[in-house]
Amino acid sequence: MDLTSFARRLPKIELHLHLEGAVRPSTFVELARKNGVELPYFDEIGELYRYDNLPDFLKIYDLVSRSIRDADDFRRITYEMLESCAASNARHVEFFFSAHAHQAHGVDYLTMLDGILAAMADIETDKGLTSRLIPAHSRELGLKSGLEFLDMVLEHRSDAIIGIGLDYNEAPFPPAPFRPLFERAKQAGLHVTAHAGESGPAANVRDSLEILGVERIDHGYHVVDDPALVAQCRTAGTFFTCCPSTTEATTIWRDLSAPDHAIRRMLDAGLNVTIHSDDPPMFGTDLANEYVLAAEKLHMDAPMLKKCALDSIRASWLDADTKRDWL
Ligand code: ADE
Ligand code: ZN
Repeated sequence: MDLTSFARRLPKIELHLHLEGAVRPSTFVELARKNGVELPYFDEIGELYRYDNLPDFLKIYDLVSRSIRDADDFRRITYEMLESCAASNARHVEFFFSAHAHQAHGVDYLTMLDGILAAMADIETDKGLTSRLIPAHSRELGLKSGLEFLDMVLEHRSDAIIGIGLDYNEAPFPPAPFRPLFERAKQAGLHVTAHAGESGPAANVRDSLEILGVERIDHGYHVVDDPALVAQCRTAGTFFTCCPSTTEATTIWRDLSAPDHAIRRMLDAGLNVTIHSDDPPMFGTDLANEYVLAAEKLHMDAPMLKKCALDSIRASWLDADTKRDWL
């Protein structure tokens, strides 16, 4: 079998994907129309999906979020997202969602959960795909709002809600101030992860690990700027959930084929890199295509792709018995 077919067919675990960033463009336009959300003028939808940095990307992400209003909308986008993951041969998905981006437009948390949890159950029945939800706090909103967010998450907790994340614009909002949020989440038995080292420095990776105590790092590319931290992460076996297509839009590494691309250097340094899709239609990709890019542009061969898929199981928050079965 050629490497591209191998990359597509390999069973996968998706650990880094945002529900709102996974809305299909046609669904986005339909929901915006249905819910009376005005969109900027475009000849074809692809024109909206052009951004050169993280803040510009997040503006469109918020526009997509604004178009999702009732439980049926949440059910539809969640089902469609999980269906696309299944088409990439995903067997399990742990995905983020941005409650605040909907609360800002008057949608309550229970309405979101109603639709999202129903679709997660539906896809498990229909396709045997398991999934878990990771409500993520926008670092732009600060600690106080983060503690309120955690209260809300804990009040409406279910087995499907497995941990919390920290995302949005990284460079101006470092991780350290969020320590109390992460302490309380861990005490409550939630798993924790954070975006770090995407547009912010290596220190954000270090502080997310040492101050927030995260179990994995989402992105993490700037770790390569700090050789001592690289050595520390190699020894600790830290998992980095990397997203190849995202790097070309939101980071300083715009060419996946370049020998000095951060993911290439992370692999060369022996770090545990896993491959994911972040906001697939918004970056013109899907999970299988990210594996294909890893093969074709990052020069990952079949054993490396297989290790990456197995490391995704290890890095997941599946229970120990399932992990053992799947490994
Ligand atoms: N939210 C969705 N995608 C994101 C990314 N790549 N970085 C930070 N926040 C995000
Ligand atoms: Zn992300």
